[in-house]
Amino acid sequence: MLLEDAKVLQQREIQGGYRLLVLAAPLMAPKVQPGQFVHLRVPHLDSAVLRRPFSVYKADGGTLSILYKDVGRGTSAMKALRDGETVSLLGPLGHGFPAPAKDKVPVLVAGGYGMAALYLVAKTSAVKGVVFVGGRSAQDVLCVPEFTALGWTVHVSTDDGSLGVKGLVTDALEPWLHKELKGRTPEFFACGPNGMLKAVGERAIRGNWTAWLSVDRKMGCGVGACLTCVQKIATPDGGWTWERVCKEGPVFESRQIVWKDET
Ligand SMILES: Cc1cc2nc3c(=O)[nH]c(=O)nc-3n(C[C@H](O)[C@H](O)[C@H](O)COP(=O)(O)OP(=O)(O)OC[C@H]3O[C@@H](n4cnc5c(N)ncnc54)[C@H](O)[C@@H]3O)c2cc1C
Ligand code: FES
Repeated sequence: MLLEDAKVLQQREIQGGYRLLVLAAPLMAPKVQPGQFVHLRVPHLDSAVLRRPFSVYKADGGTLSILYKDVGRGTSAMKALRDGETVSLLGPLGHGFPAPAKDKVPVLVAGGYGMAALYLVAKTSAVKGVVFVGGRSAQDVLCVPEFTALGWTVHVSTDDGSLGVKGLVTDALEPWLHKELKGRTPEFFACGPNGMLKAVGERAIRGNWTAWLSVDRKMGCGVGACLTCVQKIATPDGGWTWERVCKEGPVFESRQIVWKDET
């Protein structure tokens, strides 16, 4: 884990309030593994005590990008970042996604900014697979050209039907599993709202498949000290224990996660 002052190289709106922030982080960027995140201290915020966690979208050489949506005080203040300014980053943090197994079909499932957490999985995977991306409307469907350029097949769904199949991302996934698997074994990698993760995890367990789920929890310290981010995790004796999403996660296998009362 590193603490680095990263220089803003570029920031722009992509679509629907989602923004791309490109940072020069020569120490951190080469160390990033797929599914890891950075904890960013937001400048221009009076009470900038707490950092905000963001998945690393791209990491090329000494450059690191995040995709974020303005949802509150911190992310709103981030919009004011200008080229050449520095932001303090802690990272790369957490245990990310494992490399997709070569004898399975990798199936990425994303909602909203979940596409950012999954891009490096697709980019570094030895096997190409499929991506199911969902959002409320077309504006929430991110990065489709980027995944297509990597040679992955992308299936889009939106709640309002403004792009792709109308319905939830899992509504598009289910028929594909029935028609296109043809005896092959899927391996799921998912990031998005916890309700979506729960549905993907339950489907994987029913099929006796593996699903790696990146859990979203509000975070404080980001380094395992404050316990803000705990998640119930199953233990081998049939019980459960608390684990820290920032430290032991954010990625857990679906059988590890105890969702009851948690969504
Ligand atoms: C491991 C991890 C990776 C993440 N990656 C990304 C990313 O790549 N892009 C991105 O846009 N966001 C990402 N997030 C969510 C992001 O951290 C929050 O949106 C951000 O912290 C909100 O800060 P704020 O000060 O603007 O919002 P606040 O003013 O603190 O809150 C505004 C609203 O956002 C909600 N909120 C706050 N934190 C979260 C959270 N963690 N999850 C869901 N809702 C939240 C609050 O309940 C409230 O409704 C990630 C979160 C985690 C835990
Ligand atoms: S955010 Fe502090 S322990 Fe996870």
